[in-house]
Amino acid sequence: SKGNHRHFMLKEIYEQPIVVAQTLRAYVRGFEGQVSLPTEDFDLSSVRRVTIVACGTSFYAGMVAKYWFEQFARVPVDIDVASEFRYREPVMEEGGLALFISQSGETADTLAALRHARANGQKIAVVVNVPTSTMAREADLLLATHAGPEIGVASTKAFTCQLAVLATFAANLARAKGRLSADEERNIVRHLSEAPAALNGALAYDEAIEAMAPMIAKARDVLYLGRGPDYPLALEGALKLKEISYIHAEGYAAGEMKHGPIALIDENVPVIVLAPSGPLFEKTVSNMQEVQARGGQVVLISDYDGVEQAGEGCIATITMPKVHPLIAPLVYAIPVQLLAYHVAVAKGTDVDQPRNLAKSVTVE
Ligand code: F6R
Repeated sequence: SKGNHRHFMLKEIYEQPIVVAQTLRAYVRGFEGQVSLPTEDFDLSSVRRVTIVACGTSFYAGMVAKYWFEQFARVPVDIDVASEFRYREPVMEEGGLALFISQSGETADTLAALRHARANGQKIAVVVNVPTSTMAREADLLLATHAGPEIGVASTKAFTCQLAVLATFAANLARAKGRLSADEERNIVRHLSEAPAALNGALAYDEAIEAMAPMIAKARDVLYLGRGPDYPLALEGALKLKEISYIHAEGYAAGEMKHGPIALIDENVPVIVLAPSGPLFEKTVSNMQEVQARGGQVVLISDYDGVEQAGEGCIATITMPKVHPLIAPLVYAIPVQLLAYHVAVAKGTDVDQPRNLAKSVTVE
């Protein structure tokens, strides 16, 4: 049931602190400061390349994971949307691990890609939310997210739980490859353990986000910008807005604006900038200022320090808890989900059952 929430989507957004904690409990030994995944039968030390395949929101979780796999484990990662994967004749060498991410575990394109990878000698790992699904059954390594049933068509809690699993898996792979010291592993576990409280802190801005929704609801186009591991969050923000509010939205890597999309900027296009303070902050802010110089209406989502430093001249700011860059993609998922939700409610669309969409896409 929706409990006291108006829609399943809102209920599921609010469940995230609990289900992410639940998911982390399955893959982390907090006291020892270690990740612990069911990889005993799996020779991760011999993995030389990871191929990630998924669709939609699950694909964006995979894009974030690519940063982590490469940063922690120094293993090269290929990533494809499932509907493209088979047709580009991907190179799959021995020692390859193919990783499929899916809430439902039934998405036809992702399943076909999984079978294609298996036929090409890849080890198959899956991150799925439905443990009885076809993908779960066909995996060599099953990493379940513990988000519970997701009813709203727009994926929310499954996404943050996927990120939680993928971060622990990246650490696990890094350890198996001899790339992670015990101290580094302890730090990763500590940062991840801070995620549930930070997600709660992000939810506290629900009303502030609701208050700006009518302004965004009037827009015809909306842009989302992010950098590094927060670039996929810009894509996810745009996807959420499109699918439930039917407003045209695009996500871009912040630095890519000047190569074309900046031509779209005028005072009618809200630009949502995701910029947690950290090593990439200054660069993102300078991209944001290029937008402002052309009359762009910027909504800055950052933490207190970031808003202090760069909030001036923005039409609105949303202040997130200050978190380690590792967990920023989980925390910044909340404001982009809430913004899409409230804009859709302001427009009066069917939030839980958007037109033309199904929860599980079982055709290729
Ligand atoms: C977006 C959304 C879809 C799914 C995609 C993959 O909110 O829900 O983009 O993420 O259809 O579905 P799964 O994860 O079940 O494979």
